Amino acid sequence: MITKNDIIFKYKEFDTDEELDAADRELLNAAKKVVMNAYAPYSQFKVGAAVRLESGKIVLGTNVENAAFPSGICAERSALSNASSNYPGDKPVALAIAALNESGLTTDPVSPCGNCRQVIAEEEYRNGNNIRIILKGKNKIRMIEKGGDLLPLQFNMKNLKVNPH
Ligand code: THU
Repeated sequence: MITKNDIIFKYKEFDTDEELDAADRELLNAAKKVVMNAYAPYSQFKVGAAVRLESGKIVLGTNVENAAFPSGICAERSALSNASSNYPGDKPVALAIAALNESGLTTDPVSPCGNCRQVIAEEEYRNGNNIRIILKGKNKIRMIEKGGDLLPLQFNMKNLKVNPH
């Protein structure tokens, strides 16, 4: 017997930053600001990420590239690693991302890459909460309430266990 399944996930889009609530707007502004610190001499694509922790604290990250290309790190993982290392136990609850190409803020919101989606999913899994993703584009802000929705049928800790349930 064949079972056919659908995976549906919902996300919101806003036209302007002003439509976000004050805390999310602050987080997005932090991501837009830190993007200037990105080290991206190879791609010229600068990315800034800001993580909101449960305590309210904001932790920042940027992409940091390397001559050995795979050694670079994305802004999202940089920020989440920073949070995990410096504020263990303070759960990430939201993650804002902004990116600059050679002509400024990207027109479309930039989505986390596959590696970063896996790391976001791990954070949600280990802490048992959702991480709201806020993606900034020049004329559009995209919001996904649960980062793990960007990685359907994900591989996670459960898959490594003999008796996963
Ligand atoms: N990058 C990020 O930092 N985050 C993303 O969501 C997409 C890509 C970085 C990796 C690399 O330094 C540059 O952008 C171009 O891929």
